[in-house]
Amino acid sequence: YRNLRIALLGAGSVGAQVASLLLEHGAELSERVGAGLELVGVAVRDLDAPRSAEIPPHLLTTDARSLILGADIVIELMGGLEPAREYLELALNSGADVITANKALLATYGPELFEIAEQVGAQLYYEAAVGGAIPIIRPLRDSLAGDRVLRILGIVNGTTNYILDRMDTEGDSLEEVLADAQRLGYAEADPTADVEGYDAAQKAAILASLAFHTTVPLEAVYREGILAITTEQVAAARKAGFVVKLLAVCERVVDPESGVEGVSARVHPALVPIDHPLAAVHGANNAVFLEAEAAGSLMFYGAGAGGMQTASAVLGDVVSAARRHVIGGPGVAESTQANLPVLPISSVRTRY
Ligand code: NDP
Ligand code: HSE
Repeated sequence: YRNLRIALLGAGSVGAQVASLLLEHGAELSERVGAGLELVGVAVRDLDAPRSAEIPPHLLTTDARSLILGADIVIELMGGLEPAREYLELALNSGADVITANKALLATYGPELFEIAEQVGAQLYYEAAVGGAIPIIRPLRDSLAGDRVLRILGIVNGTTNYILDRMDTEGDSLEEVLADAQRLGYAEADPTADVEGYDAAQKAAILASLAFHTTVPLEAVYREGILAITTEQVAAARKAGFVVKLLAVCERVVDPESGVEGVSARVHPALVPIDHPLAAVHGANNAVFLEAEAAGSLMFYGAGAGGMQTASAVLGDVVSAARRHVIGGPGVAESTQANLPVLPISSVRTRY
């Protein structure tokens, strides 16, 4: 069957895990989509930099442009605005489908990139850009497209949740926990993006745009980070029955003066009652609560950061993009893999 050439841009916390999973499970995924999935190269800055997963040296290159021009699917996991924007435009214009986890890029240049994709008939997938491993983009874009979302309330930054949680449970200081979050691969290349709330604001802009079928520019998202929060304040909040969380709140609102309905999005630390489900979101996990007119309340929960966890969402996009190449349409076909036998119930060990 057809061979699809995959170019990966970036082999850091997420990219190295994506490369490793593609190499390890490529044959199984190929069978699942009905096309060969070949990782043809991995663009990096430094060919000799240490990697969190082994990547065959012959795949590494510093020539991202040549790699892009020979690919059917381009995965961007470099981060930052430039040259990521330039590379994605090159990829789309050369007819490739594009996958990115880059919320900074999407919150800044999303409309332009989606327009190019539409013009050239390509797709831009970004499930990993919000909530790490949590499926939240597709549910908002597809499953809830027929409903009216009223409000989104979420913890959407794993690094700050990890920091606030350690300040709360261990009494650690923000500075020492941030160093751990960087070591664990949760933080952005410039962790200011995490602790000052920029990353969460970018995600709020993406979620609000999708949920309310509009364009919410990043500048319109109110933003406060966690730098001013001390371990003493976190302890005092707990004594009073609250947990400090960095929340993203996106909602339909009505201007009290004009009566005009619109959208508001904000990111700031908040006191969450200890018996609220959001108070139980520990470590680098994220959670998104959503209220929709017909569906009522929904909750999405899971790993919000981390290389391997985020790679899961990226690979889901790879499968969607590959299916699109094979069968056309948006690439959301049922799985056709049939090589796993259904076992008699007697042979299944009880796990719960
Ligand atoms: P890292 O900083 O760990 O890795 C970035 C990678 O991109 C490195 O391999 C680097 O190369 C490469 N790179 C950077 N600039 C260039 C360039 N100009 N040309 C070629 N290669 C380049 O980032 P992460 O893996 O943590 O994040 C990647 C993206 O995923 C970001 O957009 C981030 O916001 C997003 N994301 C990250 C999550 C996480 O948990 N870490 C979760 C969800 C999304 P070299 O190694 O040689 O320096
Ligand atoms: N730095 C981000 C976070 C990575 O901590 O949530 C996941 O988007």
